[in-house]
Amino acid sequence: MSQTKTALIVGASRGIGLGLVKAFQANGWSVIATVRTENPDGPQSISGVEVHSLDVTDRPAVKSFAEQMQKRKLDLLFVSAGISGPQHQSAINADDQEILTLFQTNAIAPLSIAQQLDGNLNEGGVVAFMSSIMGSVAGNESGGTDLYRASKAALNSMIRSYAARLTNRNVSVLALHPGWVKTAMGGDQAPVSVAESAEGLVAQIEQQLGKNGQRFIDFQGATIPW
Ligand SMILES: NC(=O)c1ccc[n+]([C@@H]2O[C@H](COP(=O)([O-])OP(=O)(O)OC[C@H]3O[C@@H](n4cnc5c(N)ncnc54)[C@H](OP(=O)(O)O)[C@@H]3O)[C@@H](O)[C@H]2O)c1
Repeated sequence: MSQTKTALIVGASRGIGLGLVKAFQANGWSVIATVRTENPDGPQSISGVEVHSLDVTDRPAVKSFAEQMQKRKLDLLFVSAGISGPQHQSAINADDQEILTLFQTNAIAPLSIAQQLDGNLNEGGVVAFMSSIMGSVAGNESGGTDLYRASKAALNSMIRSYAARLTNRNVSVLALHPGWVKTAMGGDQAPVSVAESAEGLVAQIEQQLGKNGQRFIDFQGATIPW
């Protein structure tokens, strides 16, 4: 029988992150989850899930979490935490704090976390980032939601640089689009349920284990142009 795989899901209090915790556990993985805000229905309510508190933008907290995780072997490190930014989504109206929080959360923190924890990955492991099809510069024909798009494009750029440096390691780097998902961020109109998105993402990650390279794909495996 194959050994139990271990996933670390960062940003799992609710939404797709929480869906990933449930879907990986249902597939037999051992799951470590981090949350910024405690939600009564969050990962701490699921038996067997190890939960840590973490605000991804809190640099000292990230450093101390990485130190605490030393020697813990992982097959997957998945940063799902993200925000949509100010409602106006406008370069003219954005103030410095809004820009800082958006880019820090969506683009800088995920890479900082990955770089501090990727030493824990087993051979053939996966580093996954929750990107978005909206972060595709090549695919942006319609515009709209400008600041969020730019933050995910910045994330994608950081991912490409990171993956280029990791070519000497037997790990894969994935930028993932979860679909348009019914969550606080995706809204009620979204066609994809959290469970459907999470199950699709788990399947894509399981297929990627043991391979290396970098890919930008959606929850059904379709390739997205950078
Ligand atoms: N929903 C969609 O259609 C869609 C489409 C494409 C991409 N995405 C991406 O998928 C990811 C998850 O989105 P979602 O739809 O599940 O959104 P959501 O329901 O709004 O959940 C966002 C999650 O990110 C966490 N988070 C935000 N800032 C954080 C911080 N500073 N530190 C730690 N955790 C933080 C939140 O924690 P708190 O509970 O503490 O706020 C929450 O768990 C995001 O990266 C998003 O950009 C979503």
